[in-house]
Amino acid sequence: MGDALELNLLGSSPQFAHVRAQIRRIARFDVTVLIGGETGTGKELGARAVHYLSGRANRPFIPVNCGALAESLVESELFGHERGAFTDARQSAPGLISEAEGGTLFLDEVDTLSLKAQAALLRFLQDGTYRRVGGTQTRRTNVRLIAASNANLEQLVETRHFRRDLLYRLMVMPLVMPPLRERGRDVVELARVFLERLNQQYHGDTPRKCFHPDLLAGLERYTWPGNVRELEHFIQREYLLCDDEVLNAFLPCDRKLAQDAVVTQGGGFKQAKAKTIAEFERRFVQTMLDRAQGNISRAARMAGQDRSAFSKLVHKYHLANQAEREQDSTGP
Ligand SMILES: Nc1ncnc2c1ncn2[C@@H]1O[C@H](COP(=O)(O)OP(=O)(O)OP(=O)(O)O)[C@@H](O)[C@H]1O
Ligand SMILES: [Mg+2]
Repeated sequence: MGDALELNLLGSSPQFAHVRAQIRRIARFDVTVLIGGETGTGKELGARAVHYLSGRANRPFIPVNCGALAESLVESELFGHERGAFTDARQSAPGLISEAEGGTLFLDEVDTLSLKAQAALLRFLQDGTYRRVGGTQTRRTNVRLIAASNANLEQLVETRHFRRDLLYRLMVMPLVMPPLRERGRDVVELARVFLERLNQQYHGDTPRKCFHPDLLAGLERYTWPGNVRELEHFIQREYLLCDDEVLNAFLPCDRKLAQDAVVTQGGGFKQAKAKTIAEFERRFVQTMLDRAQGNISRAARMAGQDRSAFSKLVHKYHLANQAEREQDSTGP
């Protein structure tokens, strides 16, 4: 089961292989883990891998989104409450920490906990004991804690929104999920797997789809602020919306092109626009040539341009060699 779960963590770049090795090692030791990383980098997936590769795999993995809990209820959700502890507490409840007994409690968005809840969590981390809200009995439980946050916790400590002592308690074993843009060829590897999943899911309803090389190149250029989640959604969207069997969307890579143009040209709008248009033209001509198998006349017709204007563009972007080479191999 452990290996199957680890296999969910796709990516064979050296950067990600390092993360996977860390996860395997961390899983063996029964310590608190703090997972950092931008949104969509796989923090929750990583937490699950740690749990299912650990000796606790047969016990529960309980995820808690701290940001989604009402502030007044956080403590009773986590630690449970006794009957009558507050107005709505008609019955006692054991709380999530108790539910996770023997297993792992995953505190997602841990930075959103109030200072009061942080204090209670710190007490629990220090000696493994807690009290239900409204209760007097000290309880003990055997739970491994994994916390995650995409906030800069050090900064929150500086602004006194997060307790320094809690941060140190959580950081026994830090694990950082790298952003997709720093994972080299992983973006292409993941894109292919996501597409293959869709091909299998919709097998029979729609013809198999594949990527145009231009799109793959674009995926590598783009910076993916939403990381793996953004990539997954992008592929899904293109798969479902594109009628063509060869996916060749211009976004999101061209959004990035526009940003790059601004950055590298020093921000001048005219220059940035010229660069973006030039890049668009190059890709457009390239795409038409590909579709016309290098035949300039046919490519020009497909582009709705006369041959001489299109031919100028072919030369402007140094695509003439390719056009000729492909024509040589495919005949007139
Ligand atoms: N290495 C990976 N291989 C395959 N899928 C991944 C990988 N990393 C993330 N995903 C997928 O991307 C999506 C986001 O992952 P996850 O929810 O773990 O991110 P997160 O870091 O917790 O994001 P957030 O900070 O927004 O909560 C999920 O659908 C997950 O399955
Ligand atoms: Mg998450």
